Amino acid sequence: MIKKKGQIVRLDTPNTTLVIDASAGEYLYYGKRLTSGGGFEALSGSPRKIFSQYGFADYTESSVLMENADGGISTAFTFSKSKILTEKPEIAGLPSSYGEGKTLELKYVDAPTKVALYLYYTVFEDSDVIAVSSKLVNGAKKELYIRRLASVQLDLLGEYSFVTFEGAWARERQKVSRAIGRGVFYNDSKKGVSSHERNPFVIAEGKEGVYGVNLVYTGNHKEIFECCENGRARLIAGINDFMFRWKLLPGEEFAAPEAVMCYAPCEDGLSLQMHRFVREHIVRGKWKKRERPILVNNWEGTYFDFNEEKLLNIARAAKETGVELFVLDDGWFGNRCDDHRALGDWFDNTEKTGGGLKSLADKIRALGLDFGIWVEPEMISEDSDLFRSHPNFAMRVPGREPTRMRQQLCLNLADEKVQNYIVRVISDVIARSGASYVKWDYNRTLTDCYGKNIPQGEYFHRYILGYYRVLSKITKKFPFVLFEGCSGGGGRFDLGNFCYYPQFWTSDDTDARERLRIQDGTSYGYPQTVMGAHVSACPNHQTENSNPLETRFNIACGGVLGYELDMGKLTEEEKKVITAQVAFYKEHRKVLQFGDYYRLGGVFEGEVGGFMTVSPDKNSAIAVAAVTNRVVNGPLPFIRFKGLNPSAVYEVTTRPQANYGGQLSFTAGGDMLMNGGILLRDIFSDTQAKENSGCIFTRMFVIKKCKA
Ligand code: GLA
Repeated sequence: MIKKKGQIVRLDTPNTTLVIDASAGEYLYYGKRLTSGGGFEALSGSPRKIFSQYGFADYTESSVLMENADGGISTAFTFSKSKILTEKPEIAGLPSSYGEGKTLELKYVDAPTKVALYLYYTVFEDSDVIAVSSKLVNGAKKELYIRRLASVQLDLLGEYSFVTFEGAWARERQKVSRAIGRGVFYNDSKKGVSSHERNPFVIAEGKEGVYGVNLVYTGNHKEIFECCENGRARLIAGINDFMFRWKLLPGEEFAAPEAVMCYAPCEDGLSLQMHRFVREHIVRGKWKKRERPILVNNWEGTYFDFNEEKLLNIARAAKETGVELFVLDDGWFGNRCDDHRALGDWFDNTEKTGGGLKSLADKIRALGLDFGIWVEPEMISEDSDLFRSHPNFAMRVPGREPTRMRQQLCLNLADEKVQNYIVRVISDVIARSGASYVKWDYNRTLTDCYGKNIPQGEYFHRYILGYYRVLSKITKKFPFVLFEGCSGGGGRFDLGNFCYYPQFWTSDDTDARERLRIQDGTSYGYPQTVMGAHVSACPNHQTENSNPLETRFNIACGGVLGYELDMGKLTEEEKKVITAQVAFYKEHRKVLQFGDYYRLGGVFEGEVGGFMTVSPDKNSAIAVAAVTNRVVNGPLPFIRFKGLNPSAVYEVTTRPQANYGGQLSFTAGGDMLMNGGILLRDIFSDTQAKENSGCIFTRMFVIKKCKA
């Protein structure tokens, strides 16, 4: 709900209230829902601004910076007008949230040049989230150069810790919390993509609660956190100003990507709000609410070394266990026998696929499985027909040796010709294979940014605009196909991408212990529905640790389940175990994939933690308890559940595991399970623990409300 009284605007969601003084461009309040009205004057005149600019002797970080049309760098944006719109405006060329209309529009004008700054605030009631965006319109008679246009500025008063989600390839999005005290800290990416290293989702954690901010953007981003001497904590998020300089001609406008922000009293609440928002207002299309299929992917099973027989063996075994979708990964096209060649040659390698893609896909479908395909459309190998015929499609600076990563170059997606080429060839791959699932990969980052006639300062953003154009055309053409994003695992795990891909490969690290941490960190800002999670072979290919098959399954249930191993080589015993796992997953898929997700505690050395998902009516839940290390003669581990109905009585049973003889079954009150918890008395009695190194210990609990 948005209400205006003079220029004081109040935006309410069921649990939060934001109050803005539009004429002063000031935050008056953002936090817990206020039930009373008025009294906001008492809060006016604080240094909390909704945007900031260079000039006025203000030397803190600004949200708007430009080389102005009058040749200077100072601006003096002052209030012009405010409006409540009934429809949320589209952001040209960029993906954004949808499903709510009412939007507050604020306009500020730099009088000497007539340049206008617009800010938009849309209220998402069902998730207590506010989407914010900004736009500059050049009303001057001369061009200007934008050096920074943040999507959002959130000014707070008090002491805050700045929480980020950091990592690297194979250890993405691990939570890092820093008490900033005084000074400036920033979290960013200059890699051309949102990155494995620093996700755009950040949290400001203070005494009165937590504020989460995320960007609906896949490119270079920057989140600045500045704690000033006047007690103000400023959070600015948007496109990274690294190398950014955007020319705006008279009459033109530039839109910054959308940001989303929300307040909650605690991190669990913040995650639930963000999850609901992503599920309802970011993910779209036919797969938005559909249960996701259980897949088998051949990558870790075969890498590049496969032929039709091997693939069909995997598919046959997968079908026997109840798996629903077969995904053919890298290596099926051109002369792609290793990662040195053939990216860009999206024609069938008949030696490796038998009679080609269509014939293989038909055989897989005849077995009763759906067929999915891997592509990496934005890349090119120098050893490829595409490079030989179109060397200019590759991104490189003329006269310089390009930087190679994984032996490949990027295509110049800032060029419309290249975009159209990708749309054509990838559409053909999907159409000729009849794929119902596409894994869209991206395995290196940008270095040699160059495109003829594209100013350097615009390149990174123009690449992303080109990428979104390609993605939106292809996803619109194939509305029934389930697209899963991937970027050397989770290197582009962001809300911009989730507007196109309902799910994303979370990480190339499939080790259960590592995955527990990666999924835990990821879950702060993203729901389990978007996290691809696979059971792979042991010893694990990334860590060489081993974990029982049942443990690997328990952890993979924290996301969208798949198997990624040579199922053609499974023993009869393993097949039996996987068959039971798949049947269990199907029975509980809805609550596992779409339930409210809670983290249950620590996931680092020696800690007891895990996760649980609870149906919206709180009648059923699945919990996974995990002990990451066995402390000899240590305290008996125990865990407290979350999200249940405190006054309901539940029946709790352990999922039968092949590596554990006993089975626990008891009834207890919701409040007892959440406050008292349960002792994990026999968690170290797994029969296969001795055969495994680097093993973690897990139990899965099925929790059902007893009939009254
Ligand atoms: C990336 C992906 C993997 C796999 C390989 C194929 O690393 O993350 O899942 O698809 O590429 O080359």
